Amino acid sequence: MPAIVVVGAQWGDEGKGRVVDWLAREAQLVARFNGGDNAGHTVVAQGHTLKLHLVPSGILHPDLLSLIGAGVVVNPAQLVAEMDELAALGVDVGPSRLKISAAAHIILSTHRALDGARDAARGRGAIGTTKRGIGPTYADKAARVNLRAGDMASPEHFAERVAEAVRAHNRRLQEQYGAEPLPPEQVAADYCAYAQRLAPHLTDGSALVGEMLAAGEMVLCEAAQGLLLDLDHGTYPYVTSSSTVAGGALTGLGFGPRHVSRVIGVAKAYTTRVGAGPFPTELLDEVGDRIREVGGEYGTTTGRPRRCGWLDLVILRYAARINGLDEFALTKLDVLSGMERLKVAVAYERDGVRTERGRRERTEVFPAEFGVESLAQWRPVYEELSGWAEDISVVRSRGDLPLAAREYVARIEERVGVPVTLIGVGPEREQAIV
Ligand code: GDP
Ligand code: IMO
Ligand code: MG
Repeated sequence: MPAIVVVGAQWGDEGKGRVVDWLAREAQLVARFNGGDNAGHTVVAQGHTLKLHLVPSGILHPDLLSLIGAGVVVNPAQLVAEMDELAALGVDVGPSRLKISAAAHIILSTHRALDGARDAARGRGAIGTTKRGIGPTYADKAARVNLRAGDMASPEHFAERVAEAVRAHNRRLQEQYGAEPLPPEQVAADYCAYAQRLAPHLTDGSALVGEMLAAGEMVLCEAAQGLLLDLDHGTYPYVTSSSTVAGGALTGLGFGPRHVSRVIGVAKAYTTRVGAGPFPTELLDEVGDRIREVGGEYGTTTGRPRRCGWLDLVILRYAARINGLDEFALTKLDVLSGMERLKVAVAYERDGVRTERGRRERTEVFPAEFGVESLAQWRPVYEELSGWAEDISVVRSRGDLPLAAREYVARIEERVGVPVTLIGVGPEREQAIV
């Protein structure tokens, strides 16, 4: 059995958690490969609504292992809180079941403080980060000065290094941002307590993945965020600081591409985005408000209202290319029920720029590499499709969907060239068409 990679095909919150939970029934290992507690993955099953930030979304399945991979940045306080919450629900999160790669990086309280101070200092150009310390931690990782999870195994040395890092961060907080410093000894003491708790979970993550693959087990790789938040291929600088795409699974977990048998892109039946930055199909009218209310589009991590808009096939085509998608899992189709007309963006046109033949310049290729100023010049070209009135949340086979819903899905497949193999018609585990 091989590796299956699940990635977000838009700006995050596509429903990766529920898709991973669905696929996990056949897996032996579920491994998160990027991001940190900026992520919020919802799993609705067995009468519970879990909001997971760091623990992989397969955790409800009792017979599988969970791994937090090397590419992840871990806030130990958040992880311990999440483990306690799960344990209180009777979910086993002991060291034999939940593993942490020793090479994962550690988020300190001062990384969080720096994240908040830095985004506030950007003023009108703020990214609207989740303030979880993600950017500053990955920056320290790239600068080769950060602490890793494996450092938690030697408590004395760890305390010293935490205090030292906090002092260095404090200087930046005070001098650059005029912000309050944090007490180094107190932070070190807190982190030592987390370290004691988490040390038994440490493992060589890449060796574990390698062993499982060699033994023919199925490894499910879970992304956080989505393509357009990817550090290299997203709408920079309005992105997160990690590799959110399929390639990130290889570097974030430490295995080679020949093991990957399926890459699944999770996409919502419409588009949402939290935080600032360009969003071509955004709806700033009552249609957008309706989608937000019916879809419950409020952030899992920060509670912020999500910006909503029509489905954008230019983006999905881009997702297919960057990730090498084999399939789409299309979630929240039920949210569109009751809308008379639906629009999907099939291309972009640029205002005022004319080609030799005198027509507007048109592209079907997402113009990401030229930056957000360039992206802002493009307007979506829409195709209109009929909506459907029926409640589809009880439908369990594609043939039983109303004709217009079937056509909506078929249009995506046709225009993007990637089959839709799972359709979400409600948040519950079983509310899916496979
Ligand atoms: P993730 O970050 O990609 O895991 O997605 P989130 O959990 O942040 O956001 C997805 C939201 O949509 C969650 O509240 C899910 O419970 C919900 N959801 C997922 N799939 C469906 C679906 O098919 N229909 C409906 N109505 N809700 C869904
Ligand atoms: P999941 O895994 C949606 C967004 C933030 C901000 C930008 C940078 O649940 O899909 P960061 O804190 O990462 O430095 O913020 O990225 N963002 C997300 N948006 N879903 C997420 O995760 C996100 N994680 C970060 O809103 O715009
Ligand atoms: Mg989310």
